[in-house]
Amino acid sequence: MVLRRPSHCPTVVHLDRDYLEAVPALIGGRKWVLVTSAGWAGRGTIKAITGAAGAPVAVVDDVPENPAISYVEKLASVKAADLVVAIGGGSVMDAAKGLAALQALAGEIPPFEAHLRDGEPLPEDLAPAPLICVPTTSGTGSEVTRWATIWGDEKVKFSLTDSRLYPSDAVLDPSLCISKPRELTLASGLDALSHAMEAVWNNNHTPESDRLATTAIGSIRNHLLIALERPDDIEARREMQVASTIAGFAMGTTQTALAHSISYPFTALFGMPHGLACSFTLPAVAEYNMGADQDRLGAIAEGLECEIADIPAVLLAWFDEMMLGAAVGRYVSAADIDGLGENLITRARAANNLRAVDGATAKDIAKRSLGDLSGAGAETAAAAP
Ligand SMILES: [Fe+2]
Repeated sequence: MVLRRPSHCPTVVHLDRDYLEAVPALIGGRKWVLVTSAGWAGRGTIKAITGAAGAPVAVVDDVPENPAISYVEKLASVKAADLVVAIGGGSVMDAAKGLAALQALAGEIPPFEAHLRDGEPLPEDLAPAPLICVPTTSGTGSEVTRWATIWGDEKVKFSLTDSRLYPSDAVLDPSLCISKPRELTLASGLDALSHAMEAVWNNNHTPESDRLATTAIGSIRNHLLIALERPDDIEARREMQVASTIAGFAMGTTQTALAHSISYPFTALFGMPHGLACSFTLPAVAEYNMGADQDRLGAIAEGLECEIADIPAVLLAWFDEMMLGAAVGRYVSAADIDGLGENLITRARAANNLRAVDGATAKDIAKRSLGDLSGAGAETAAAAP
């Protein structure tokens, strides 16, 4: 078999570590920049890490959710250092990758924009500072991937993609996940599930990515509900954190596919958290892909411990247990989906999908998915004009 994408990931993953011990040891007295969010800054994280590792040369403490290109480009003026440390969720890690790329470009915006907007490769001699990622959510996988999502100010999704942007290290400290609120636990956990499932029904899949996906799906199946019901269950948090990183390894080989392709307008236009937007269609996307090649979903069935034919029903029952319908229904109604037109796919991601898809089919999948979720209907009716 020809591996269409590199299956190796150079990031060193430090499992189950106290970040206040691991990160200072990795910094090793070098000059560093800290990137985090206002939320983590408010929890005393900056004081804690600078107390343990010494003062950074610069602190970025205001990364917003879904950072826009205009925000990331402002990071070009942040003082450069020997390495970058990102403490936060996917938005923080993605902004840190943008910062590292821009600093390596000496703050030059045009090649950065040409890469995001037109897919132009970054310069051959680009040498970004090493990036240490400390993920505080369990879902994005950004701590082990070479890409970052950056949003156009016109609500278009761009990808920063370069193998030199793989983080050098990922420090997994499950205690950082204890404070996650329920919706973030749900959304991030389902993002990880979606990464694993999308790796399976993906044209770039390999035997290795299938095995990684099965492992991640099985662990998420066994631990996400526990993390939702008992937020301070450190074992469930630890397992979800590892599953998310394993799903990131699988996705790092394959990229994402149809469920992610459909998700972007829901985040851009309705503010739906990414993890909800890329997961509520999973049962219907599974069914759609089974129509092309049922056996290809065997790795998912193995993770869910069910028959392949039962995957959509098992997912729906599980989603109902987690009350996904109510969460999704807060952001979008059936009428909203009707108003989306037929441009509900991001072509590069849809092209990765096992079965070809057009805009009308994607819209039908989204609408049916919303209707199939218990609890979304009532919210939907209330939200409809
Ligand atoms: Fe995702």
